[in-house]
Amino acid sequence: MAHVNANYQKLPGSYLFSEIARRTAAYAEAHPEAKLIKMGIGDVTRPLVPAVVEAMHAAVDDLSRAETFYGYGPEQGYDFLREAIQQADFAARGIQIAADEIFISDGAKSDCGNIGDILSADNKIAVCDPVYPVYVDTNAMAGRAGDYDEQAQGWTNIYYMPTTAENGFCPALPTEPVDVIYLCSPNNPTGTTLNFQQLQAWVDYANEHDAIIMFDAAYERFIAEDNVPHSIYEVPGATTCAIEFRSFSKTAGFTGARCGYTVVPKALVREGQSLHAMWNRRQTTKFNGASYVIQRGAAAVYSEEGARQIEETLDYYRANAKVIKEGLEAAGFTVYGAVSSPYVWCKTPVGMGSWEFFDLLLEQANIITTPGAGFGPSGEGYVRLTAFGDADATKEAMQRIQTLMATR
Ligand code: MLT
Repeated sequence: MAHVNANYQKLPGSYLFSEIARRTAAYAEAHPEAKLIKMGIGDVTRPLVPAVVEAMHAAVDDLSRAETFYGYGPEQGYDFLREAIQQADFAARGIQIAADEIFISDGAKSDCGNIGDILSADNKIAVCDPVYPVYVDTNAMAGRAGDYDEQAQGWTNIYYMPTTAENGFCPALPTEPVDVIYLCSPNNPTGTTLNFQQLQAWVDYANEHDAIIMFDAAYERFIAEDNVPHSIYEVPGATTCAIEFRSFSKTAGFTGARCGYTVVPKALVREGQSLHAMWNRRQTTKFNGASYVIQRGAAAVYSEEGARQIEETLDYYRANAKVIKEGLEAAGFTVYGAVSSPYVWCKTPVGMGSWEFFDLLLEQANIITTPGAGFGPSGEGYVRLTAFGDADATKEAMQRIQTLMATR
């Protein structure tokens, strides 16, 4: 008899964004006349930039000719992309990361989940609360989370670190031993950032306790503040304690194309084992590399034209974030994020829970958001809005919210 992974039975209903899609689809079916504005899942809407499209077309042409055809590529990614990343994202900022410490993948979400393959089941996991649900659910699937406690809305074996307005959205260092710490800056979902001093405290903690930091930098391109590291490796000591995840999704519109990368420094060693060697072993066994066409497209992001073009797209989203922040503030809301992030974290009206406010915005303004409670207990009392939509629709959404709040 085959035995299934019993940890899956412990997972709550469905993945957060699937649940929102389900509720939204049910509403749209019942109200076909509703003109819904999507500000829920952080999916981009601007097309790939011309430099990326041209590179992908040329790559398809390469595959169409025997003399330039590529079959299986290196599991770690092509050198042309690893070297472009090493130069632009690290060397240009004075960061000592080698090209062969960079592993190309089909996206940061896969890597954030897959990295658990090289960790034992008995690590104590620490996450911020609220948190991107992938960190928690993937550890739960691997049996590292314990049981789900409905009442506490959390897992019995996960160490939750409240990251709230009260502590300036900087989690306090753990008061009991933890082994693996997930940090995300700019943060999903709060849109806030960790500065140099705050990250230095975490790096020092991790080195002192032989812990590992999983640092998610998927929203790095949105950083607009001076004192905020773009990479954890800007912080002294990070190469001996941190793994960093990056994504082309939000940077260059690759949510559909799929490409990201993970940095595993060779200096990162635990229990005498090189995490770099282990991740390499994992990738060469379970992954045949990201597609050649997609990697050529990603490399074009680092060309002069590509870099200029993606900045224009990012400016479009940055302008949306400003519209949302100012629009919500004009409607009387307290908001966080938006400055260095495409996410705006909005306090719900007094006495209203986040699912209740989600329903109100859906039903009375036809706007789809993400309820903060879906990201963890400390997300209760908030909703998240994203700046990745159409500019006119974003302005329209703010007008609808202002009208709704004025009539309540
Ligand atoms: C989000 O909305 O939090 C993100 O789009 C999810 C993701 O990047 O997987």
